[in-house]
Amino acid sequence: MNVILIGFMGAGKTTVGHLVAARLGFRFVDTDDRIEADAGKSIPEIFADDGEPRFRELESAALHDTLRGDEQVISTGGGIILDVENRKAIRAGGYCVWMAVTPETVWERVSGEHHRPLLQNGDPPGTIRRLLEDREPLYRETAHLEIRTDHRRPAEIADEILAVILPVDA
Ligand code: S3P
Repeated sequence: MNVILIGFMGAGKTTVGHLVAARLGFRFVDTDDRIEADAGKSIPEIFADDGEPRFRELESAALHDTLRGDEQVISTGGGIILDVENRKAIRAGGYCVWMAVTPETVWERVSGEHHRPLLQNGDPPGTIRRLLEDREPLYRETAHLEIRTDHRRPAEIADEILAVILPVDA
């Protein structure tokens, strides 16, 4: 089986994903890293050179390819759930956890960073609110489990995921 982490930018998918993978003895895979390796350039470069639609094609390809594997914790980009085929593949391809986060927490976590093309505009907090509002129903319909991540340490979140995933007598 695979464990697939979905959620908005800054939800902590990568940090928590590494912890869960280590505890399960699973491989950690990040779809954003795969996209960059396949394209031979960074995500900001893909957005700038080829545009968001091309990025989304590469993202779907990376997801479907990754889902052919087993015993992986897969951390996904925040927009992966925009595509209906991606949503179906995620739900069918493993146990899906939505790491939910408020717009305020996202802004606290990402305001010092500059590698997120969708937030490189005049109103990042407004963009975060709007994107989150659009995407929340899609995260919800895709996930088997929802976990709130605001004001919580990654280790605590990983423990909560593991408590649900691991059989009681394991
Ligand atoms: C995106 C989120 C990013 C990355 C790309 C687009 C999005 O991943 O895939 O910048 O649409 O929300 P993270 O969620 O890992 O930051």
